[in-house]
Amino acid sequence: MERVMASVLITGGHGGIGLAAAKYIAGVAGRDLVLAGRSLAPMGDAAAALQQASGVKVTPLEMDLASLGSVRAGASRLRTLIDEGTVAPLEAIVCNAGARFNTVGYTVDGFERTFATNCLGHFLLIHLLLDRLAADGRVVFTASGTHDPATPDGRLVGRALEPDAQRLALDGKAGAPSSTGQLYSTSKLCNILNAYELHRRLRANGSAVASIAFDPGSTLGTGFLRNMPAIVQWLGRTPLVPWVSRRMGVTIGSFGFSGECLGRIAADPAYQSASGKYLQSNDGSLVERRSSKASYDVAAGAKLWHDMVRIADIGEGEIPSLLEPHRPPSRG
Ligand SMILES: NC(=O)c1ccc[n+]([C@@H]2O[C@H](COP(=O)([O-])OP(=O)(O)OC[C@H]3O[C@@H](n4cnc5c(N)ncnc54)[C@H](OP(=O)(O)O)[C@@H]3O)[C@@H](O)[C@H]2O)c1
Repeated sequence: MERVMASVLITGGHGGIGLAAAKYIAGVAGRDLVLAGRSLAPMGDAAAALQQASGVKVTPLEMDLASLGSVRAGASRLRTLIDEGTVAPLEAIVCNAGARFNTVGYTVDGFERTFATNCLGHFLLIHLLLDRLAADGRVVFTASGTHDPATPDGRLVGRALEPDAQRLALDGKAGAPSSTGQLYSTSKLCNILNAYELHRRLRANGSAVASIAFDPGSTLGTGFLRNMPAIVQWLGRTPLVPWVSRRMGVTIGSFGFSGECLGRIAADPAYQSASGKYLQSNDGSLVERRSSKASYDVAAGAKLWHDMVRIADIGEGEIPSLLEPHRPPSRG
């Protein structure tokens, strides 16, 4: 395997689907890695193992995506490491970290934690690092079929809500909270709306950077169920769940294959042309699919973006030129 002088930043790359993607990116594609996350010990262990197995350089980067201050500090550190040549130039940003919670809770910034972790932290991260990304680089979002209420996946954990950033960020603070399943599905709809809006903004500014959404499919054996009740975690370890999922027509992933798909989308040149698209791992195949009807609402995507800039308190100086002009939304 030939080492390529480029690095891929992946959030949540020390476990689950992210680790399988990291193994592909390091071991097959030969790219250096930056593992961004909040769990320093497991990240250090994963970095050492990946480095030893593949011979590439793997740099752990402390970053809690549920804290805007932590994202700013981590991005600033990475910019310095790139600028001083300690980390190879950035070729891709993989926004993979994500969580589903069992109860509604709030981050240090006061935002609902599903929206903050899965959407807001990554949204800020992209703003802070886009000017360090290669001109033909990639941004990949790990989304989920749960975002689409017209599919069995989308009915499994709760139908996605209106992608209203203001309401989602403060869900439950003034009135009854939404179901945690719905908050998760909606966060994944927002990931896809962000991916498509990023694609439109990049193209409007003449950029060749690709922005791609990816659904790994329902994937057991990762840490994804860790916040769920013990009975749900136990069921997830039995053959019953895959059997029922198949019968229901749910999209079936496996963390080895789905992780490899994510790695390929991030590092294989063949996927540069997939910008603005939604790719899915289903039963051993990586295919392009239509995402939900709501995800193609251009006005909703622009409004979500506009509102998220304000909620994440992204100042003029933090908006990279590739994301200008900062078009106002046409509705709302
Ligand atoms: N498994 C599925 O069925 C499935 C299906 C569709 C989509 N997905 C999506 O796939 C992605 C990976 O999930 P997975 O199944 O591999 O689950 P996982 O094993 O739990 O991995 C999630 C990763 O996100 C990280 N993370 C969570 N909260 C974070 C935070 N505040 N700051 C930084 N990192 C944080 C976790 O790190 P810690 O170790 O610090 O918690 C972990 O590395 C997620 O975006 C998930 O929504 C999963």
